[in-house]
Amino acid sequence: MYSYNDFDEAFVRARVAQFSQQVARRIDGSLTEDEFKPLRLMNGLYLQLHAYMLRVAIPYGTLNSRQMRQLAHIGRTWDKGYGHFTTRQNIQFNWPVLSDVPAILSALADVEMHAIQTSGNCVRNVTADHFAGAAADEIEDPRPYAELLRQWSTDHPEFQFLPRKFKIAITGSPNDRAVTKAHDIGLRMVRNGRGEPGFEVLVGGGLGRTPMIGQIVREFLPVADLLPYVEAILSVYNMLGRRDNKYKARIKITLHETGRDEIRRLVEERFAEIRPEFHGHDQALLDDIRAAFAPPAFRNAPVDAHTAAQVAPAYRAWADTNLTRHRNDQYAIVTVSLKAHGDTPGDATSDQMDVLADLARRFGHDELRISHEQNVILPHVHKSDLPEVYAALKAAGLATANVGLISDIIACPGMDYCALATARSIPVAQDIATRFDDLKLEHDIGPLKIKISGCINACGHHHVGHIGILGLDRAGVENYQITLGGDGTETAVIGERAGPGFAYDEIVPAIERLVLAYLDQREGPEETFLAAYRRLGLAPFKAALYPAEGAQDAA
Ligand code: HEM
Ligand code: SF4
Repeated sequence: MYSYNDFDEAFVRARVAQFSQQVARRIDGSLTEDEFKPLRLMNGLYLQLHAYMLRVAIPYGTLNSRQMRQLAHIGRTWDKGYGHFTTRQNIQFNWPVLSDVPAILSALADVEMHAIQTSGNCVRNVTADHFAGAAADEIEDPRPYAELLRQWSTDHPEFQFLPRKFKIAITGSPNDRAVTKAHDIGLRMVRNGRGEPGFEVLVGGGLGRTPMIGQIVREFLPVADLLPYVEAILSVYNMLGRRDNKYKARIKITLHETGRDEIRRLVEERFAEIRPEFHGHDQALLDDIRAAFAPPAFRNAPVDAHTAAQVAPAYRAWADTNLTRHRNDQYAIVTVSLKAHGDTPGDATSDQMDVLADLARRFGHDELRISHEQNVILPHVHKSDLPEVYAALKAAGLATANVGLISDIIACPGMDYCALATARSIPVAQDIATRFDDLKLEHDIGPLKIKISGCINACGHHHVGHIGILGLDRAGVENYQITLGGDGTETAVIGERAGPGFAYDEIVPAIERLVLAYLDQREGPEETFLAAYRRLGLAPFKAALYPAEGAQDAA
């Protein structure tokens, strides 16, 4: 894992000192809230419905146990004993008091973390496949490239005031777990005809009010060209991106209005100009970074304990849903669900974070990941340790066997916290999870991704949920629109709107009708909801959602 060098350390400490002064000036009244706002946002401090909210970057979702323990400590000391993991692999603290923020930032700096560029019109936290470095299907660990991009984009003078925020996602696997196609730049590692690794580069994906799937601008970019090419894209966007209208300022709109071929031409032209300026420093740096991401020293030991434990049905159910194949056969990737039925998706208490840190240290080669699906991953667990890990998770309320199932819901903070929300999203997620737990149907239903946003900004990724739920405000009343068939993987599509929305108390029954219709019409348990939707189309699901209309048609 990457460790800060002297430069990083000095940079982050200087920022903490600078912001501490700014906070002091706000508190003594020499800065107004309006004057303070841009300064706090540059340090990840938002003002939400009830309190300030501090968004802390977890670069490409990777943490060590010391960092997780520090997040627990921050939650316990300066917040209400918990933190919220987000779809952007960040953590948000919902209740900090302004005067405590310098101490929090200083505590973060102690473990090589910060909140810089988690807001504003700059390059945000670069997100990556949460199974990076462990996945069996991976071509190469993408995190060294993500780290290179992080270093390059942090405080980059040309890109601090882009037309709008800018999000880059990267995956080293053909199976896309990083939703690369819904990012401003998506980087998917591929091999060329000679077997060399490189990137397929997508531009112009994004969700929000105008959802779009990214388009390929380069089929194969040699890895050595990554930085100049990304710089060329940003530089073209910086010139062309619209600054007259915030809703049209994202690169997806630039691409849409300018046309892919023209954008591609401009990017290639700029790339040709700046490529010679990269004399190899970036490659030397990349080599150093790569060394920091060398795989851990995997153990060689029998795996009988795991095999034996599978006789217990609860353990087997957990192993079935929450374990993923590791590149080393003796190991497993453990996904720890932060979606206990009825709890807030993505929340972890400080005590739970301590348990996770402890497990990572004892059994996980000191690594943890945060997934965009708001879960925590122990990427390298030897199978012989799995029963002990499971027992510890269970004792901490962290062993819910639901990863990838209907209750593993992504939900944005919505009306519970967010100042932009038009509806609640967390309670909808809680109600759906609880209902399907009561019905005891979720394992039967199988893989199904529900994603919920509390407003059109789509922070909860609803457009790419197999079932997406968007909470709106209709004349002061919450109204929930359903989209179907969305997909955030390598076969990404934006979901289709099913029809008129539902009131708050109608949304769970509506989802239930939808899912029962799927169970009724699927060809067998191996046909997933998404596959059934692709085969059958919208009509049967629409009929289930709006039975009254069907009755009217028949009348
Ligand atoms: C402080 C609360 C938040 C505010 C004010 C906020 C604001 C916004 C806005 C305005 C957009 C739309 C951007 C656009 O269309 O150009 C957006 C998109 C998005 N936000 Fe948030 N957000 C908040 C919390 C979150 C959280 C908690 C997450 C993660 C769970 C998140 C992840 C995203 C994602 C994934 C998108 C859509 C992708 C994109 O097109 O950028 N946001 N957010
Ligand atoms: S989707 Fe809307 S309600 Fe939800 S976090 Fe984003 S801005 Fe807030």
